[in-house]
Amino acid sequence: TIDQRVEALLKQMTLEEKIGQLNQYTGNNQATGPITINPNKEAEIKGGLIGSMLNVIGTKYTRQYQELAMQSRLKIPLLFGQDVIHGYKTTFPIPLAEAASWDIEAIELGARIAAVEASASGIHWTFAPMVDISRDPRWGRVMEGAGEDTYLGSKIAFARVKGFQGNLGDVNSVMACVKHFVGYGAAVGGRDYNSVDMSDRMLWETYLPPFKAALDAGAATFMNSFNDLNGVPATGNKFLQRDILKGKWNFQGFVVSDWGSIGEMVNHGNVKDNKEAAQLAITAGSDMDMESNAYRYNLAQLVQEGKVDVALIDDAVKRILRKKFELGLFEDPYKYSNPKREAKELNNPLHRKIARDMAAKSIVLLKNEKQLLPLSKDVKKIAFIGPLVKEHKENMGFWAVELPELDYTKEVVSQWQGLQNKVGKNTQLLYAKGCEIEGNNRDGFAEAVAVANQADVVIVSIGERGNMSGEAKSRSNIHIPGVQEELVQALQATGKPVVVLINAGRPLVFNQTADTAQTILYTWWLGTEAGNAIADVLFGDYNPSGKLPMTFPREEGQLPIYYNHFNTGRPAPNETAFNYVSAYTDLKNSPKFAFGHGLSYTTFNYSDLKLSKNKIKDTETIEVSFQLTNGGKFAGNEVVQLYLRDKVGSVVRPIIELKDFQKVYLNTGETKTIQFTIDKEKLAFYNEKLEWNTEAGDFDLMIGTSSSDIRLKAGFELVK
Ligand code: IFM
Repeated sequence: TIDQRVEALLKQMTLEEKIGQLNQYTGNNQATGPITINPNKEAEIKGGLIGSMLNVIGTKYTRQYQELAMQSRLKIPLLFGQDVIHGYKTTFPIPLAEAASWDIEAIELGARIAAVEASASGIHWTFAPMVDISRDPRWGRVMEGAGEDTYLGSKIAFARVKGFQGNLGDVNSVMACVKHFVGYGAAVGGRDYNSVDMSDRMLWETYLPPFKAALDAGAATFMNSFNDLNGVPATGNKFLQRDILKGKWNFQGFVVSDWGSIGEMVNHGNVKDNKEAAQLAITAGSDMDMESNAYRYNLAQLVQEGKVDVALIDDAVKRILRKKFELGLFEDPYKYSNPKREAKELNNPLHRKIARDMAAKSIVLLKNEKQLLPLSKDVKKIAFIGPLVKEHKENMGFWAVELPELDYTKEVVSQWQGLQNKVGKNTQLLYAKGCEIEGNNRDGFAEAVAVANQADVVIVSIGERGNMSGEAKSRSNIHIPGVQEELVQALQATGKPVVVLINAGRPLVFNQTADTAQTILYTWWLGTEAGNAIADVLFGDYNPSGKLPMTFPREEGQLPIYYNHFNTGRPAPNETAFNYVSAYTDLKNSPKFAFGHGLSYTTFNYSDLKLSKNKIKDTETIEVSFQLTNGGKFAGNEVVQLYLRDKVGSVVRPIIELKDFQKVYLNTGETKTIQFTIDKEKLAFYNEKLEWNTEAGDFDLMIGTSSSDIRLKAGFELVK
């Protein structure tokens, strides 16, 4: 068995070789953290002193490094890890955009395609999915997660792990790495790497479940986190890694640190040097050291001094070796380094087709007054205006894999090209840039207005730059940058119908545009097929079905903002009251766009809500059903959302909580019966003693098209 092979190998290993397995270095491809130059890397690999590398991509380079490892005494293969976050060569929408699809199967398929490509290119292991819940769009890494909701986030976490890992050990699969364990998304002030302070209840109820879901899906590895949680850095946090992850949850895989996070504990101030950091991290359950060099240079001495029990090192080594065996690397260390497969899979047209489909599904129609969209394919003249129209690489967003020598102008379908591909000979496309993304220069406005005046319809594409969201990309000001919103005003002043596309890696603030524009599509960053997917939606070849996975604030002053908040003791009775109630004197409490919001070109009617019972014990279930009718002129998908409110609890419960959803396709005029089941899973919560259980009492059940647009309501009672 694998365990026997692991034990046998371990017996042959020197302490130095064991510690080597716990050591991960970066290669030269893409820097994803502060680089320390290490001239001995190759010699150390040959000496069996490195277990894994990141940022080495392609069959050629992974093979070269693996050949070095094969010169080591015990010939233990290297593991190659890489941030394959939203696609490999075929870049999919950023994860937050994919989350907006609420399409779990499509999300799993996207991860599968990424795994097929990455594994064909020598990669064994992706540092994904990021499953951090976040309620603060100032934090640049919201682009990499599934948004603010624990239920949706858990479903997506499960799907992404399944997609990446397939049947782990098959040559077209990669190990997943669930990150960042834990709390990273709750960094104070939305500032990256900042401290996190949260109650145990919030940890268990809101932040941990997506990690558990990923584990239930079979996740092979976890990554710990840069932040401290309640004063203890996650990397040196025994409670998180030993008690919860490897204890209560019985996780059998291994934990990798984040880049340098073991050494960074010196800056946190809970250890005095790298040696103490290494001692704390290994004791707390961090198995592999990414780029701190803390294990490499300190663990042997710590063992000799009796400060670290070698059993801890053996346990970490075994966890890592087991994965190398499971992947089949001992049978064939070059299993994933087949250039023929690489050439085939990295140019597989089917992958682009799937990426286009995913991209269209990720777009959210925020507003569509007077049904300006979809556009008719007979429009004679379209003006396509804005600083993002002719960009290629920007559409990739942050965390796209930087393959060497990739020509983005050929690889990525710009928005301009997408429109060109879509319209026929009889439609003329006009272009003006209008302004830059940032800065105050309005010199291009006049030309943009002149171009708009010649057109029948104006489309304006504005937003962030692709790398304004991402790691280390926190912003205190999340308004649409520069004078882009003024450009929109100038174009709207022509009286022409204007469609606004907003490209971003996070919820942005854009009140003026939100209040005045007729039609807004939130297009995030959609990857290599961005232009085609946007054109598909503009012309109705895909009827938009995306729903916001995060609340969009009115202003930064509302942050953190989330839909499933508590009621408080003094809830504001309306949007203007503020005297001695929980409200701002200068701003409404409500968001600009609510969690779950997203329109369609058609209209969906909800009716006939029925509950099989209105009183149950928690061993019983309620069958919920209602009728959903497509009452409009277009076929399309609706994401029906089921929310609950537990009206009285021994601890305060949120005013509304997502508990289930379905994405349903309906032809025009079609009606379907939609069914949900209410069971204990949906009713229980963590009580004061942190026991997960139900309590007797009344519940509100709400079926909505968003968290703020509830269409059907009923009540039921839980009895004990
Ligand atoms: O995987 C990432 C992590 O999410 C942030 N720091 C760097 C790691 C490796 O690139």
